[in-house]
Amino acid sequence: MNAKERLIVALDVDTIEEVEYLVNELKDEIGMFKVGLQLYTSMGNDIIAYIKQRGGKVFLDLKLHDIPNTVSETVRVLTKSGVDMMNVHSQGGYEMMKLAKETSVKTANEFGIKAPMLIAVTILTSLGDNEVEEIGYTKSPKEMVEHLGLLTDKAGLDGVVCSPLEAGIIKKACHDGFITVTPGVRLAGGDVGDQKRITTPGQAIKGGSTYIVVGRPITKAENIKEAAKKIVAEMEGI
Ligand code: C5P
Repeated sequence: MNAKERLIVALDVDTIEEVEYLVNELKDEIGMFKVGLQLYTSMGNDIIAYIKQRGGKVFLDLKLHDIPNTVSETVRVLTKSGVDMMNVHSQGGYEMMKLAKETSVKTANEFGIKAPMLIAVTILTSLGDNEVEEIGYTKSPKEMVEHLGLLTDKAGLDGVVCSPLEAGIIKKACHDGFITVTPGVRLAGGDVGDQKRITTPGQAIKGGSTYIVVGRPITKAENIKEAAKKIVAEMEGI
C-alpha cells in the first residue's frame, strides 16, 4: 500500500456542498473518506453512493454498539451499501463482533461485492486513566487496548481503531496483517485543536499505523489539496 492509500480524510461536515467540494478536491490525493455520525445523520446512505460514484472509497465510522442481532442486521444493510470499511465497538463483546463479521462476509457474497474491512474501536482516545477507572475498568487504558485488540482479532475482525501511540501494542499482540486505523495525527507545528495525544503522520506509520485519519488539518486548510499532499509526503519521507 502506498502512502496516499493510507490517508483517510474525515468529512466532518453536514451539507452536500461541503462534501462536493472536499471530494472533488481530494479524491485523487487520498485513500478514503471517513463518514461519521454527523454526516451520516444528515444525509443517510445517499452520501455513500455519492462518494462512491465519484470514485472515492468510504470508511463509515458509526461505532456500532448494541446486542449481536441488532448490530448484525445493521451491518447487513450497510454492507449492501458498498462501504469499504466500517466499525463496531469492541466493548459490544466477542459474540457481537463475530456475528457482525460473519454477516458482512455472507451479505457481500450474496451480492457479489467485496466485503468491507470490519474494524473495532478499542478504548476511545478521549478516555484517559481517570475516565477508564471512573467507568469501572480495573485495567489501564493501554492494557484495555491490548486486551480488546486481542478479543477483536479472535472474533475474526480485520483490525482496530486506536491511538497512533497504541498501534505498536496492537501490532505486537495481534496476527500479521491485522490493521490499525489511527486518528490524532498532526504535522509538526500544526494546530492541535482538541486532540490530546498526537503524533506526526510519519511517526504514526513508523509506530505501526496502517491507515491514518486526518480531519481539520486538511479540511480547514487554505489549500486542502496541498495540505493532503504535504501529509502524504511526510509519510513517504520516513
Ligand atoms: O480533525 P481531526 O483530525 O482531529 O479529526 C479526527 C477524526 O477522527 C474525527 O472525525 C474524530 O471524530 C475521529 N476520531 C478521533 N479519535 C477517536 C476516534 C475517532 O479523533 N478515538
